[in-house]
Amino acid sequence: MPKLIIDDIAVEVADGSTVLEAAQSVDIPIPHFCWHPALGKAGACRVCAVKMLEGPVKGIQMSCMLPAQEGMVVSTTDPEAVAMRRNVIEWLMINHPHDCPVCDEGGECQLQDFTIAGGHGIRRYTGKKRTHVNQYIGPDIEHEMNRCIQCYRCVRFYQEYAGGCDFGVMGSAGRVYYGRFQDGRLESPFSGNLVDICPTGVFTDKRARFRARYWDYDMAPSICPHCSLGCNITPVARYRELLKIVARRNDPVNGWFICDRGRFANDEVNERQRPRSPEVDGRETTYDEALEALLLRVGEAEELYGPGSMAIVGSSRLALEAAALLPQLAQSSAAGALCYFTLQAEGDRTLAAYELLSAGKSASLNDVRESDCIVILDCDPLQDAPMMALALRQAWRSGAGVYLVGGGIELPCEFTRVATLDAVPLAEAKRSVIIYGTKGYNGVTTVASWLTGIAPNFTKGGLPGNLKLACLFPGPNSFAAALLSREHGAVSLEEALADGGIKGIIAVEADIPEQLLEGVRFVAVLDWRKTATVQAAQIVIPTTAWVEMDGTYINNEGRSQRFKKVMNPGVPVKGEGPPLHPPHIHRSVAPGGEARPAWQVVAGIIEGLGGERITEPLSGQWEYLRELDAESRGVMINDL
Ligand code: FES
Repeated sequence: MPKLIIDDIAVEVADGSTVLEAAQSVDIPIPHFCWHPALGKAGACRVCAVKMLEGPVKGIQMSCMLPAQEGMVVSTTDPEAVAMRRNVIEWLMINHPHDCPVCDEGGECQLQDFTIAGGHGIRRYTGKKRTHVNQYIGPDIEHEMNRCIQCYRCVRFYQEYAGGCDFGVMGSAGRVYYGRFQDGRLESPFSGNLVDICPTGVFTDKRARFRARYWDYDMAPSICPHCSLGCNITPVARYRELLKIVARRNDPVNGWFICDRGRFANDEVNERQRPRSPEVDGRETTYDEALEALLLRVGEAEELYGPGSMAIVGSSRLALEAAALLPQLAQSSAAGALCYFTLQAEGDRTLAAYELLSAGKSASLNDVRESDCIVILDCDPLQDAPMMALALRQAWRSGAGVYLVGGGIELPCEFTRVATLDAVPLAEAKRSVIIYGTKGYNGVTTVASWLTGIAPNFTKGGLPGNLKLACLFPGPNSFAAALLSREHGAVSLEEALADGGIKGIIAVEADIPEQLLEGVRFVAVLDWRKTATVQAAQIVIPTTAWVEMDGTYINNEGRSQRFKKVMNPGVPVKGEGPPLHPPHIHRSVAPGGEARPAWQVVAGIIEGLGGERITEPLSGQWEYLRELDAESRGVMINDL
């Protein structure tokens, strides 16, 4: 733990920290382009200069390359250091366009910030700027090479961190080029991180280019809903349109990055034709009328078919706030079944996988990154949860052994195929993780029987050694669905329908296979996606998408994380269809802006059925989550 002094402030940092990190730890900013916390140092840009006044090293040094050492006295404000940084910026700006006011990166550009902070304003160089030809690198990312300052962040991320090999650095000296060998879509499923990691605007998100300035954005901390890992994100919106999604740092979970599936996922939120207005029998109506019709039909179902003829169906994509109210809805409507899963096999598998985690230790993505032995069993991380694949690549880069039981999948690292779990040298590992999935039954049952074999009495927290488990569930809130399912004795819809007694269904953001709806007389759906279930329903009540409300997901390890409302619901101003701006009729809400969070609609139904008025969805055992900070690391739920 070396102690040093930076700008007259005493600092003590962990061994191995750099002077730049030491300065950051006491909020002293040092300009940097090539250094990135996740990528480490490259010493490429030379803009992090500081003056070493005392100690083992003297003179102007690059703070990102210099390990903090005992007795160092560092000045970031020394005139020599300031002049060095100013000169480097001016040198970088010789070829970089001086076009911030009209550049699409303007306002969120690290080069712009440090150029202004460094005082460079007047261009003295009178020669021509070097120019490059840009490439087509796919439908998602724009390439603008003239902005490049050769910091090597992109190629270090793409090749080293993510394992991509179709993008790299070519040329030499003053004509270094970052791109592909030829035009074509970037192949890495993590390519979108180039947009975040580039300190200038060489890579920008095509969907958001020239759509708004940084200070116009609607933004809030959020959680990605596209798999069960719960990666932290910041969605960016403007005029009711989700423009882009950027990664948000959460060290135990996704670190600094996200995958392309989560990043380039604007379309379904912006879809104009998604459920926007309540409908009864195909006719647009008001919320109140739709709610009234739903209550009427629930009453009719009871009269016609007797109590217990309704099923309440939730899903693994439903936020905790609504999912936790479903048991109350089932009680108020005298429902015959409460379901969080539609198919029996899916429900059984998810519950079995959840039970394993409840009885042991679940691994975070950071646990995977820091493990020394990883087993992949009956799952495909790149398909099921891409960031899990990126995490295990980092472990492999640090020397971990990666073992694939069986085969048939690709991984972004080298691995050893083994026939069974017993062939993996887990006993020699210090921090091992078994990753399994729920798509097939083998992973869950194999892990369960293997654990039973090696530790017959394993109980809560009692897995041998430091072995941890990571399950890849199907949805962002599968963990909560399994937990609620177990607590409330829920069954799958398939089981509930087996005896023919269920005649009506209220589906809350649930995708019900067509064959299960045969013989069901009445279907009401609360959803924001235009699913086949919505199309088959007699009553449709639109709910808000995840970016249009506050909510909570519990990720695959049992970590509760809060996501916040980013934008108001409503049809985006821009897009296909009749123009909506300027408004042609006066109204108090935006077109399609009446959608409500699912929990509020569920609460309305409960009240309409004679239940209590619910103003706060998280109560009882969930009450402690009410104050959960969306910018925290999340909290592990109690029973883990
Ligand atoms: Fe230190 Fe680039 S940040 S040389």
